[in-house]
Amino acid sequence: MRKDEWKNDSEYVQIVGDLIKNPTVQKLANYKQHHHSTRLEHSLAVSFDSYRIAKKRDLDYRAVARAGLLHDLFFYDWRTTKFDLGSHAFVHPRVALRNAEKITTLSPVEKDIILKHMWGLTLARPKYEESVIVSLVDDYEAVREFMNPFRTKVKKQLNRIAAIK
Ligand SMILES: [Fe+2]
Ligand SMILES: [Fe+2]
Repeated sequence: MRKDEWKNDSEYVQIVGDLIKNPTVQKLANYKQHHHSTRLEHSLAVSFDSYRIAKKRDLDYRAVARAGLLHDLFFYDWRTTKFDLGSHAFVHPRVALRNAEKITTLSPVEKDIILKHMWGLTLARPKYEESVIVSLVDDYEAVREFMNPFRTKVKKQLNRIAAIK
């Protein structure tokens, strides 16, 4: 997702507008996710990209958009809290689900999306295709958010080399 691209999609805004304004969701902006992004930026990217894929595939894109936004609704720094990776992968979807249920009513698909988004690192298999999409987009975004600054650096170097000729 390009920065703030979601703001131009009125249906998306209509689906998640209430959640984005929610103070609990806004608190995600105070946490770093992957070196170069906040947890709110990461959650929006996962939500919006998954929403677009689900819409194309004629799936429950509303559930994907909402649960995608809430999938990491936890408030500790996973890089410094004393968890090994396996424990964090197991624990945080449960914490996120509990926090999400405090601010909205979740459908069975939405619950499954949040709970199973670490599929691959945890054994819990997704029940719905919607959950698989969010889990895959989550992995993709993690890599992209980590790599982006390197890409910019490489691009700059290439431009510099091109300018030498
Ligand atoms: Fe997560
Ligand atoms: Fe995530």
